Amino acid sequence: MKLLVTGAAGFIGSNFVRYAMKVHPDWEIAVVDKLTYAGNLANLEDVAGGPKCRFHRADICDAEGMDRIFSSERPDAVINFAAETHVDRSIDDPSLFLKTNIVGTQTLMDASRKAGVDRYLQISTDEVYGSLGATGLFTEESPLKPNSPYAASKTSADLLARAYFKTYGFPTLVTRCSNNYGPYQFPEKLIPFFVTLLHEGKQVPVYGDGMNVRDWIHVDDHSRAVEAVLLRGRPGGIYNIGGGNERTNIEITKFLIEAMGKDASVMKFVPDRPGHDRRYAIDDTRIRAELGVVPQVPFQEGLAATVRWYLDNESWWQAVRSGDYLNFYDRWYSKAGR
Ligand code: NAD
Ligand code: TYD
Repeated sequence: MKLLVTGAAGFIGSNFVRYAMKVHPDWEIAVVDKLTYAGNLANLEDVAGGPKCRFHRADICDAEGMDRIFSSERPDAVINFAAETHVDRSIDDPSLFLKTNIVGTQTLMDASRKAGVDRYLQISTDEVYGSLGATGLFTEESPLKPNSPYAASKTSADLLARAYFKTYGFPTLVTRCSNNYGPYQFPEKLIPFFVTLLHEGKQVPVYGDGMNVRDWIHVDDHSRAVEAVLLRGRPGGIYNIGGGNERTNIEITKFLIEAMGKDASVMKFVPDRPGHDRRYAIDDTRIRAELGVVPQVPFQEGLAATVRWYLDNESWWQAVRSGDYLNFYDRWYSKAGR
């Protein structure tokens, strides 16, 4: 298999590439990433750069650049993780979200189609469904009602994948996963943000009443699900992926406070995020029944191991905090003598 993976210098993409190279040592992977503020080559330091994993710094919105990479790499399949991903940033300025997440997806699918790839997997999100009340679950048939500019841009990309399948018979697959946790997550997202703040003895800002619910999944379980959909999913198919772990933000915050040996006084309630989705919860019957995918990482263990990872890898997040990771690309290439 020759695979092209975009956005693989980010959190989930880098974990997926590490997982895929371990489980499929015969695969060749071409990594494409623009290295935005969220892209960090240190996330791939142990896996990228050899003949089995080549890195291309490129923007998925750049049609000529994509054509060049497809001509040289000739991938059998494509997974698109590349996106602007932080809801709060999308509220501040939606424009880049629309460009990367919508136009970037279209550009990448056009390049993939021209190159005749066999399978194209669009990494979507459960945020396309909007928000649930106290009960119910999102199924793949739930109406799409995105509430943030981020979610609206991801919904557009998700629907473009559907349209390319219907219109051109282009073999798209779509996954809609819930909130991921694990190593290498950019410390602006809830769990790494709070762990790093707590480590520095600071208070943690809980939005609103803290009763918003997310369904948390370990990133390795997400990687296993993506692998299954890539290899065995039905072209045109849409697959929910969930962890079966609904938690309020207060529950997560309390767990982190306890794991870090702090007391409840560090929890600070701050004004709510505008349009803040109340609850996400996933019905993953389809992926279980069709592909036999079941999450494996028990939540308490996975979260405890994740906290340990951030504590053991302080140099990784300190480099992110200081901005030094932005120089990693130059250092990496000079080290490789390129
Ligand atoms: P991330 O922000 O950590 O990584 C995104 C990566 O995309 C970065 O490496 C960045 O440099 C790259 N990128 C951004 N714009 C690009 C462009 N124009 N061209 C090429 N590369 C570009 O995000 P993540 O949390 O790893 O999320 C990966 C994917 O999974 C996204 O599509 C996201 O919507 C989706 N997703 C995330 C979650 C979650 O909980 N984090 C849940 C469901 C779905
Ligand atoms: P986040 O990690 O940004 O993911 P998403 O918005 O995509 O679900 O946030 C997870 C939850 O945590 C969400 O309900 C917002 C909340 N949150 C806070 O309460 N405080 C914070 O500082 C952050 C970053 C998030």
